[in-house]
Amino acid sequence: MKSTRERRLKRLLSGFIIGLMFCLSVSNGQPQRQTLIPQRIVLNLTTTPSSSMAVTWRTEGEVKNPVVQVAPAGDWDGFQKGAVNGSATSEKFELDTRAIVYSHSSIMSGLKANTLYAYRVGGDSAWSEWNQFTTAKEGDAPFSFVFLGDPQYEVKDMISRVFREALLTAPTAKFWLFTGDLFDLPQYDRNWVEWFYATGFIHSIIPSIVAPGSHEYALKTKGVVRWDMFSPTWKAHFTFPQNGPKGLEGRVYYLDYQGVRFVVLDAQMGLKEQTEWLDKVLAANPNKWTVAAMHEPVFSIAKGRDEHNTRNAFMALFDKYSVDLVLTGHDHGYARSKSLKNGKVVGDQEQGTVYVVSVCGPRGYDHNPKYDYLMQKTGKEHQLFQVISFQEGKLIYKSYTVTGTLYDSFELQKDIKR
Ligand SMILES: [Fe+2]
Repeated sequence: MKSTRERRLKRLLSGFIIGLMFCLSVSNGQPQRQTLIPQRIVLNLTTTPSSSMAVTWRTEGEVKNPVVQVAPAGDWDGFQKGAVNGSATSEKFELDTRAIVYSHSSIMSGLKANTLYAYRVGGDSAWSEWNQFTTAKEGDAPFSFVFLGDPQYEVKDMISRVFREALLTAPTAKFWLFTGDLFDLPQYDRNWVEWFYATGFIHSIIPSIVAPGSHEYALKTKGVVRWDMFSPTWKAHFTFPQNGPKGLEGRVYYLDYQGVRFVVLDAQMGLKEQTEWLDKVLAANPNKWTVAAMHEPVFSIAKGRDEHNTRNAFMALFDKYSVDLVLTGHDHGYARSKSLKNGKVVGDQEQGTVYVVSVCGPRGYDHNPKYDYLMQKTGKEHQLFQVISFQEGKLIYKSYTVTGTLYDSFELQKDIKR
């Protein structure tokens, strides 16, 4: 039997420990340092990739002074002395779980072209690790990038190996381009948890370009999915150029990378505004090559689908300005067209456009043969990634399966008269 004195002492001790734990977790009203450690660090290309780089990250606690530090990378830790601070903007964000987090965004500017930089993000004495990226060269220069169609399903379980194989196959790719449907329902943070599990450190060392997909508009309320509300989680995780049509900034945009103009379109909303904008963007294009990226294909390959609105909005402009390559997803299968103009196959010496549909996730959709006569290759039930290179006047396209097997390839030569 314990004495009354012993029981009282035990109660006092328990109270002291609980109080101590509370004081440690909330010191002077400040959040625990652990909650200020940056998570989900994402690099995005800007409109001036030879002199700037965008970065977005998240913290669980509120950071009073969010900062990016960047320095030319060195072979020893002394490079940190050359770091300059850049400020960041922060936004409070409520997750579907009702938890509050903070999204931070900054553009590292004033950088030298073709230079390896080290950077870290943080603030209030809590920092990320140092990561590295290389700025673009000025003007035309050879490079490669990775293109990925819809991930969408089973991101952690089934897409991780695609990303890892792509990284091993193209470790020097300058950026990764996604054509939307990163996952089924972006409003649920658990999907983003899977996304960052699958991508690991890739987003913090390789910048990305992302086109919005139909599922970036998918919002589930009371068990029903609505398709008309763009997910606020997009802006919380990405910082894209703001040069799109009014109201579509940050999800419709263009940028030039070493002699190639990349135009990112939103095939779900504001098609009329984008048509007018795209006409101007392509009319004033000084680059040798042009690549368009969007979610819905111009020529559908999934059963029951035919995207008239997308085709009517953009195909005539792709023809008018001889866009070289149109990269899309949505149909959860693979197709690569012959060189086309006005919906017809062009001759060997004519300038046309090659349309690609690809998918990196599982769960293929049934094939629709309607446009097979325009296609060079079609396929299904392969998880794929593409490595696209520009060198010596050529566009070199290679599609690989998740096992690293070459699945499709072609080259475009640029000496054809326009
Ligand atoms: Fe999809």
